Amino acid sequence: MKFHVTTMGCQMNVGDGDWLTRSLIAEGFTPASDADAELFILFTCSVRDKPEQKVVSEIGRIADRHRDNPNAFIAVGGCTAQQLGTALWRRFPMVRLVFGTDGIAAAPKALARLANEPGLRLSLLDFTESYPERDQSWPEEKLPPRAFVSIMQGCDNYCAYCIVPFVRGRQKSRPLASIIAECTALAARGVREVTLLGQNVNSYGLDDSGDGTSFAALLDAVAAVPGIARIRFTTSHPKDLDDAVIERFASLPALCPALHLPVQSGSDDILRRMGRRYDTAAYLALVHKLRRARPDIALTTDFIVGFPGETEADFQATLNLVRHVGFESGFSFMYSDRPGTASERLEPKISQEVKAARLAELQRLLDERLAASLAARVGQTDTVLIEGPSRRDGASGPSWRGRDSAGRIVNLPLPGLNDATGRLVRVRIVLAKKHSLLGEAEAEHD
Ligand code: SAH
Ligand code: SF4
Ligand code: F3S
Repeated sequence: MKFHVTTMGCQMNVGDGDWLTRSLIAEGFTPASDADAELFILFTCSVRDKPEQKVVSEIGRIADRHRDNPNAFIAVGGCTAQQLGTALWRRFPMVRLVFGTDGIAAAPKALARLANEPGLRLSLLDFTESYPERDQSWPEEKLPPRAFVSIMQGCDNYCAYCIVPFVRGRQKSRPLASIIAECTALAARGVREVTLLGQNVNSYGLDDSGDGTSFAALLDAVAAVPGIARIRFTTSHPKDLDDAVIERFASLPALCPALHLPVQSGSDDILRRMGRRYDTAAYLALVHKLRRARPDIALTTDFIVGFPGETEADFQATLNLVRHVGFESGFSFMYSDRPGTASERLEPKISQEVKAARLAELQRLLDERLAASLAARVGQTDTVLIEGPSRRDGASGPSWRGRDSAGRIVNLPLPGLNDATGRLVRVRIVLAKKHSLLGEAEAEHD
């Protein structure tokens, strides 16, 4: 059966989508385009109401297009599936599987059953006690050079605005041995870079499912896996980022000089009301220590504008923080009420107009930061991990696309190479574009 995966939301969903794709191929399914597929798998996000509306419209669109094919069906996974559950069945008869983030381990077998039993519907929505280990027996094919590796499920922080703890469950760390086994298996299939994934990776190991390994010790163990040249991780919570992890930015060459450290607001009052459990002084102290450990570290962040009660002065404090920290770039979102969260009941709500105006102003500033950060790269040298051919060829022949050590996209010509995918190349940056860089190879770096 031919299947097509659509992924919305964060890297947790991307990682889950990649795993399910590999597992379905191992089960005998074939990946296909949206037009050719009969099985449609959606990884959904409920973090704001917009992505949630997108889920419903996407299911409707698939159902419309494939109404005449009796074999076609839809499986919905990820956070909206966990949240809406079997209510999706009533609304969309074509949905025959709903699975949550713990249920995904059983999804490949469930999909194989559904393909053979047309009348059947299944739901995999229970949360498990410990990290639900997933089968890793993939076909022996070469994989793309970058992979996501899940190190934990769930989140215990209950930030006032956030639905994640409700849809991803309590924090459950994955045992060190299985993480290392997966990294080793990925490296054997050509993976050079892993991104360790969790909602709050800095508290890895500190829950009942943990085996006592700290996040810093996990980084050491992953860095020791032969073939893994680069390590990244996301997401970090400022309250849990400790000195041991900061020190790894100085001592582990494989740890990339980039950190996504969501700050959410530059106002101490708003941070307190968000339940973030740090203030701007603590955040700035972390930035200082990170830069001391790794002067070239690229810091990125997330912001929410228009949290209930956010004043103009609070918002100005956020803009000041952006100027002060010198972020490489950042994501910013308009606050959106989520069902069941603490801030759903907080007043006063900020009007849509004010939220939109604040968002536009913050985004303008963040765009300026990104342009300045990219421009500052021109003339610098760095190592680029090639991910594949560029969409457009350069004047001097085929062009390749990869990422520098901080994760910025770099395009570069590599004359005379048939397949550069997976290579680490020493590159000099020659031009900054709006969202990417253009480079020239200095020497092969493998
Ligand atoms: N675990 C991560 C990411 C959580 S979701 C963390 O702790 O930062 C990703 C981002 O979505 C958050 O950082 C936040 O900026 C944004 N977000 C979460 N809930 C939101 C809401 N209700 N409204 C608007 N943005 C939200
Ligand atoms: Fe949500 Fe906060 Fe957990 Fe991040 S740390 S997932 S923002 S509750
Ligand atoms: Fe969205 Fe779930 Fe990620 S709500 S941001 S897909 S954890």
